[in-house]
Amino acid sequence: GAPIEVDLSPVAEGQDIKVFWRGKPIYISHRTKKQIDEARAVPVASLPDPQSDEARVKSGHDQWLVVIGICTHLGCIPIAHEGNYDGFFCPCHGSQYDSSGRIRQGPAPANLAVPPYTFVSDTKIQIG
Ligand code: FES
Repeated sequence: GAPIEVDLSPVAEGQDIKVFWRGKPIYISHRTKKQIDEARAVPVASLPDPQSDEARVKSGHDQWLVVIGICTHLGCIPIAHEGNYDGFFCPCHGSQYDSSGRIRQGPAPANLAVPPYTFVSDTKIQIG
């Protein structure tokens, strides 16, 4: 599949959008300061799939989280802005992901994957 460009300028702080890339749902979250702070407050070593929030976003664009919206348990599509961690909730078997898309609770073994993407301007990304 070809890369896609996504204009982020209409996405208000606290909102998420879903786009499709290579047939996969991609969530793009414009995170609030609270969501970023929560993601960074948790000790990385305590996580089931230890990854820092900084490693999952682009430096200087820390408010933007871009993840593949496919649960790493059995492939359902998690719901954004649901669950106990200000992130994503998978209704199939109850996996809870945080505001960095990292697995925090439930049967999923791994964090939501981050697709390859780059910022082509301050308000536009290219995925793929
Ligand atoms: Fe998401 Fe099982 S597929 S919790």
